Amino acid sequence: MKGVILAGGTGTRLYPLTRLINKHLIPVGKHPMIMYGIDRLRQAGIEEILIVINKHSAGLYTEYLGGGADHGVKLTYRIQEKAGGIAEALDLATSSILPGEKFVVLLGDNLFSDDLKPYVDRYLQQPAGTARVLLKKVDDARRYGVPVFDPQHPERISYIEEKPSDPKTSYCVTGIYMYDDHVFNLIQNIAPSARGELEITDVNNHYAAAGGLEYDILQKYWSDAGTFQSLQEAAIRMKGQLP
Ligand code: DAU
Repeated sequence: MKGVILAGGTGTRLYPLTRLINKHLIPVGKHPMIMYGIDRLRQAGIEEILIVINKHSAGLYTEYLGGGADHGVKLTYRIQEKAGGIAEALDLATSSILPGEKFVVLLGDNLFSDDLKPYVDRYLQQPAGTARVLLKKVDDARRYGVPVFDPQHPERISYIEEKPSDPKTSYCVTGIYMYDDHVFNLIQNIAPSARGELEITDVNNHYAAAGGLEYDILQKYWSDAGTFQSLQEAAIRMKGQLP
């Protein structure tokens, strides 16, 4: 199984720091942010990882991580030319995924403590052409994609609302997604949102509408370290998780 980490985007909420360095290379404790996602995948037995980056700091990625041998993984890179959305970044993985192959996608700013292995194992049991997302209970769901559960099939999500002003549940869809190559067909069929991006929530809602979107709920710490406050907390919570 392969992994894809999406580390493009602009990181505007972390200006001015992200004018100097790409968001996912900002230190979280002793390590650049991206290292934590790489390590979570490696621990789940996923050693072939594609990282989607933008041009900003591209040289630093290859200088620090290289081919990944020092970190027990095999890394390749793709450049996203402009921040066209999470689904657009994911589309750059098309040629790296074999027909029928299942893979895990992480948003590069998501930091978490749960072991992915049990969730990945459950996804491997799902039929081809379906997807799995990981959720987390949060205090303020309005900042995230928010799932609404299917009352007939409690293991499924009926639909996801992206950053709703009045969330229907107190869960957030984290940036941890599991797909097979069918996802690339769906990305071809979505249109840019009002903010001009190809949204991962639109992709996930195609799965949900077809009854093919299942979930697990993270039990431990999770954050998308997209603000200075969450970044500071993450440095404390992730302490000791990497050597
Ligand atoms: O973190 C979880 C949330 O992430 C979900 O609950 C939302 O449903 C999902 O849309 C996303 O929301 P954000 O508004 O937080 O996404 P953001 O634009 O901050 O992008 C998150 C990461 O995705 C970023 O660290 C890098 C990657 N990305 C993003 C964009 C827009 C790319 O690689 N390329 C892009 O063009």
